[in-house]
Amino acid sequence: MITLKSPREIEIMRESNRIVAQILTSLKDAIRPGITTKELDRMAEELTKEKGAVPAFKGYSGYPATLCVSVNEEIVHGIPGPRRLREGDLASLDMGVKYRGYYGDAAITVPVGRVNQKAKRLLEVTKEALDRAIAVATPGNRLSDISSAIQSYAEGEGFSVVREFVGHGIGKRLHEGPQIPNYGPPHRGPFLKVGMVLALEPMVNMGTWKAELLPDGWTAVTADSSLSAHFENTIAITTNGPLILSQP
Ligand code: MF3
Ligand code: CO
Repeated sequence: MITLKSPREIEIMRESNRIVAQILTSLKDAIRPGITTKELDRMAEELTKEKGAVPAFKGYSGYPATLCVSVNEEIVHGIPGPRRLREGDLASLDMGVKYRGYYGDAAITVPVGRVNQKAKRLLEVTKEALDRAIAVATPGNRLSDISSAIQSYAEGEGFSVVREFVGHGIGKRLHEGPQIPNYGPPHRGPFLKVGMVLALEPMVNMGTWKAELLPDGWTAVTADSSLSAHFENTIAITTNGPLILSQP
């Protein structure tokens, strides 16, 4: 089931998602070699409270933190801890809040200090894949047009897209229908309608698309230990086309 949101609900979701985007911006500015992923989590939690919001991930299926920090070959759901970021790392920050009854969800991947040329390219391509997905999220297109836009672009650039994790509808719940795979043929699935609010989140790998789960039960890593990047925006489909809700 895909619930359509009213303009009033979309205004509230713009606020919850703006909070997420502002926090991600602060975390990005704080990232430097030597900082621990736990310090970033603590910052995220403090900023969430400061803004009158509630962490969305903490306690979700037992997830233990406010923030997900997934470093290098980690794809998603990295649990913050004592690990120190190092020059050359890629750190994916995934963050969600609940505010006035509605969820916000977004992710960015940040280079730690200077990173090599291929890593930089992976970031650019993953961000561009998300932008291309957003561009086709218009009323009258179909759900898998989003999936196809991501896969065709990322694979055309020589990278692979993760299959095990998908984008999703979002609203009064963090995860609502539909599931939005980051791969597949175009022109399939439900038609996109004004009022849909979707979290689009391509995860792109340098090597194989295959993933494995670490023994902590949360952290997904690439099966070949190649680098992975993740960008996520929550968008609303409006009569004027896609509107990015998760921006500062
Ligand atoms: N953005 C991710 C998602 O939509 C983060 C979820 S972390 C979890 O699935 F802890 F909430 F699962
Ligand atoms: Co999400």
